[in-house]
Amino acid sequence: MLKRKSEPRVSLYSFYEKRIFPRLLDTAMRRLNEHRAETLSAARGDVLEIGFGTGLNLSYYPDGIRSLTAVDPLDDLPTGVAARVEGRVAEAPFPVERHTLSAEGVLPFEAGRFDTVSTTWTLCSIPDVSAALHEMHRVLAREGRLLFIEHGRSDAASVARWQDRLNPLQRIIGCGCNLNRAIDLLVRGAGFEITQLRRFVADRTPRILGSMYQGIARAA
Ligand SMILES: C[S@@+](CC[C@H](N)C(=O)[O-])C[C@H]1O[C@@H](n2cnc3c(N)ncnc32)[C@H](O)[C@@H]1O
Repeated sequence: MLKRKSEPRVSLYSFYEKRIFPRLLDTAMRRLNEHRAETLSAARGDVLEIGFGTGLNLSYYPDGIRSLTAVDPLDDLPTGVAARVEGRVAEAPFPVERHTLSAEGVLPFEAGRFDTVSTTWTLCSIPDVSAALHEMHRVLAREGRLLFIEHGRSDAASVARWQDRLNPLQRIIGCGCNLNRAIDLLVRGAGFEITQLRRFVADRTPRILGSMYQGIARAA
């Protein structure tokens, strides 16, 4: 009997995750650009951005940023997307240092290292989001601020029920993105005090996806 040679197999899902999803991400996330400047307006000093994605926040930071350190496990981006990211980094008016790693583990930064931690539409996707938030709390200076905008659990019970039902599907399509996380509870649960919180539904977005939490928190 003929023996079949073992061949490296690339699953359809890993093709979607590595080749298609990053392109969709870069396009889809640009639709939310109108909310970035306002979210990031209180950023200052040394900034840690969790979930850098394709670098869409870079042009929305205010003046006076000393440095930006970015954390994201995303690597090996399709060539076109990678070139766009490099272009955004090159145009940033502050130094950008990128780390390809997950925010769930111990971050390679000393306690209190950053004046600002920012996260935009990322807390939905981090598997152990509580661990990641505790790390953000550890590396934030006592007087520092966590700036965030995230989609999450709706306050409307009927919408939240649909978010729970559709979450398993969303986790597949969105490569780990959850629809139903109560972002304010998670942020407080990691020891932050939320000093500003705006809840709204993004324009032109179904409520299951567009229920936003935009705010500022300090390390209480
Ligand atoms: C919806 S995208 C948002 C990207 C970017 N923040 C933006 O506003 O365009 C979610 C990002 O979270 C990142 N992410 C997923 N798991 C993560 C983890 N464990 N630690 C850090 N970032 C993570 C993804 O790679 C992706 O870049």
